Amino acid sequence: MPNARHWVYGAALAIYVLSAWGAYVTLGGYGAGCGTGFGASWPLCNGVLIPSFSHYPTIIEYIHRFLSVLTGLVMLYATVKTWRMSPRLQLPSRLMLLAIVLVPIQVGIGGEVVGSGLSALIATTHFCFAIAIFGIVTVAATLMYVDNKSAPAATRPVA
Ligand code: HEM
Repeated sequence: MPNARHWVYGAALAIYVLSAWGAYVTLGGYGAGCGTGFGASWPLCNGVLIPSFSHYPTIIEYIHRFLSVLTGLVMLYATVKTWRMSPRLQLPSRLMLLAIVLVPIQVGIGGEVVGSGLSALIATTHFCFAIAIFGIVTVAATLMYVDNKSAPAATRPVA
């Protein structure tokens, strides 16, 4: 049964995969796969919730959005698990809370990226937030790894 530490590892991995996919979106020039401009391109994709997948850039951009939802859910569950640990690990649980607060902001910035027609400044901000979230969750995961390795089995927190 996965515990809080495993979920935090999973959250770090999920953000890594999502960010790598985001880099593929940028480098491949697929950022406009759901259209650009406010309204039809966000939160919808080409004006609808589930677009036609006959256009390759649409598939790539839509997967990025889909992965962001999945990643957000994994992070949310990981955060809840860290706060339910007994005894709670103070720094990792607070770091996870900080990261989960940044996720909706990051999703909003993603919407601004497409709404602005892929403004370089907003896309760079989106990239910086991704790095920040990944860094915060990686520090939390590392602290939990070290704690698990150093604590005697009987005193390890129960998640
Ligand atoms: C936690 C959620 C998200 C993370 C961690 C994330 C991460 C990233 C990363 C790392 C990139 C590559 C940036 C670069 O290489 O410069 C990217 C690109 C992009 N993301 Fe996200 N993203 C998230 C959510 C979203 C959402 C919800 C949208 C919805 C519109 C979105 C739209 C885009 C677009 C359009 C690009 C390509 C920008 C361009 O072509 O210049 N992202 N994302």
